[in-house]
Amino acid sequence: MCGIVGYIGSRPAVPILLGGLKRLEYRGYDSAGIAVGNGSVGVFKQKGSVGALEVALQASSSMLGDATMGIGHTRWATHGDPSDRNSHPHTSMDGSIALIHNGIIENYSALRTELRSQGFEFASDTDSEVLVHLIDSIWSSCPELSMEEAVRKALHHVDGAYGICVISGRDPQRIVVARKGSPLVIGLGDGEFFIASDAAPIVEHTKKVVYLSDGEMAVVTRDGYHVKTVGNEAREKSVTELDFDLEEIEKGGFEHFMLKEIFEQPVTMQEVMRGRVRHEDGFVRLGGIEDYLDRIRDARRIVICACGTSWHAGLIGEYLLEEFARIPVEVDYASEFRYRNPILDEHDVVIVISQSGETADTLAALRLAKEKGALVVGICNVVGSTIARETHCGMYTHAGPEIGVASTKAFTAQVIVLYLLSLVLSKDRSLSRHDISLYLRELGEVPEKVSRILELNDQILEIAREYVDSRNCLYLGRGYNFPVALEGALKLKEISYIHAEGYPAAEMKHGPIALIDEDMPVVFIAQQDATHGKILSNVEEVRSRKGRVIAVANEGDEEIARLADHVIYIPSAAAPVTPLLNVIPLQMLSYHIATLRGCNVDRPRNLAKSVTVE
Ligand code: F6R
Repeated sequence: MCGIVGYIGSRPAVPILLGGLKRLEYRGYDSAGIAVGNGSVGVFKQKGSVGALEVALQASSSMLGDATMGIGHTRWATHGDPSDRNSHPHTSMDGSIALIHNGIIENYSALRTELRSQGFEFASDTDSEVLVHLIDSIWSSCPELSMEEAVRKALHHVDGAYGICVISGRDPQRIVVARKGSPLVIGLGDGEFFIASDAAPIVEHTKKVVYLSDGEMAVVTRDGYHVKTVGNEAREKSVTELDFDLEEIEKGGFEHFMLKEIFEQPVTMQEVMRGRVRHEDGFVRLGGIEDYLDRIRDARRIVICACGTSWHAGLIGEYLLEEFARIPVEVDYASEFRYRNPILDEHDVVIVISQSGETADTLAALRLAKEKGALVVGICNVVGSTIARETHCGMYTHAGPEIGVASTKAFTAQVIVLYLLSLVLSKDRSLSRHDISLYLRELGEVPEKVSRILELNDQILEIAREYVDSRNCLYLGRGYNFPVALEGALKLKEISYIHAEGYPAAEMKHGPIALIDEDMPVVFIAQQDATHGKILSNVEEVRSRKGRVIAVANEGDEEIARLADHVIYIPSAAAPVTPLLNVIPLQMLSYHIATLRGCNVDRPRNLAKSVTVE
């Protein structure tokens, strides 16, 4: 996740900016850079760590050290690979304006075309760079404008989310900042001011901060700051006193990264859709695969390869792709696929799914599929990762860095990408525009429904208390929610070390039923759909063997309350989006059981975040 710092005062800016960037490292990033104002603007940026940037700065003979104002950025790539040229700050062509940006500019492509036609040349592949040229274009054509006015006018042309900081040699005594959908905080010191994307880089300098709201801009000088809206209305801001420590800030007030990431999902789900979906009229666009769409649509078969949680997302993808796009799909563990001799040729499409983009088995499956002539499509979270680079084309999940070892927000982002892909492939084939817009509307309602499910946290904690000492647990679901049962079981076992298994509910009577007794809790995903009656029969079967039942069911389902020991009621939805809802209480249940057992959920034993060995 990108991070922003800024400083204006009387002390040397570089150490303050580097110190601030280090405080933001916990958010995850792939490159870092600073720009300082010293009459003119000096920029230093590169791919890699803040530590490496610091070493490079010390080794350079640059005069940046004298500057007492500047801005700094850690980048988590979204548009364009992690590289020196894509790192922030971005500068105007004459180098007099420098800008850092968090967020995504949705209309960057149209803006870039327009700016190119005016003669602007682009030095990076990022969406962010359009902003600095846009400001330059407006300011150069109207030099009497202040920097604030030039930035304001530029922002009127922009769709999307931003937190930005701008400095310029043309107006060297100020930093202009603005936010929409991407947080910014101003720290108030004595004759000095700090700017950051969260309070982590500020708290060691001052406890007094002003939080900007969406649609606000501020001009910060050594003498003070003023805040206006992007529409140019003055705003009075109240000063907040920070009363938490650094570690609390890094985890956003949550006790663990895993819980923070579970709670981020209403936002990350929107990030996946941002710029790709128009819910009203059935518009879906996946830029990363556009040039390959015909070949994917004409595939004889799609094979999905992945590991662990990503493999579970792939299973949901199978249901989605077959239902919406009517293309036959197989889902393989990457580790199995690569060691058999799969029948594969240029008529097949292989989709590899990986949060990290570095999983060794998934990478090997990708290379094998390419060797056999298949088109390989990637679904990755980490931009510029090996898998993202080696696939023919692909889609990023834009879930931001996932730090907790147990995957949560990356999983739901993967499912949304697969959902969108299935709808794109269904167009002019199996679904009408009207159907697509209905399914998009269902998807559009998911983030708000997830927010409502997250409100059940206390209830789920209470349920967790009853199962802290369990030694086994069974998860059962059907259809779209069979893979959710697998995912619920994986989440529980990997962080709480309780043995757990997931099954399609109807399989219970073919073996697992032998395990049921009073020591075997069974988690049912009891979606109210065509199979609901059958699930209720399964619940009866468990009850009659004294098994304890936790049911995730739809609001208003009273029948299930009669049978289950605990019911977690969640909003209902169309079947294809239900995995995105049902998985949330299962993530929370695992989290609470594990923490009540004293397990380190962010770093479970024997597990690594990225499995780069076979
Ligand atoms: C489980 C988990 C793992 C990963 C698996 C694949 O919570 O995180 O099962 O899903 O190791 O990792 P990626 O998606 O990075 O390829």
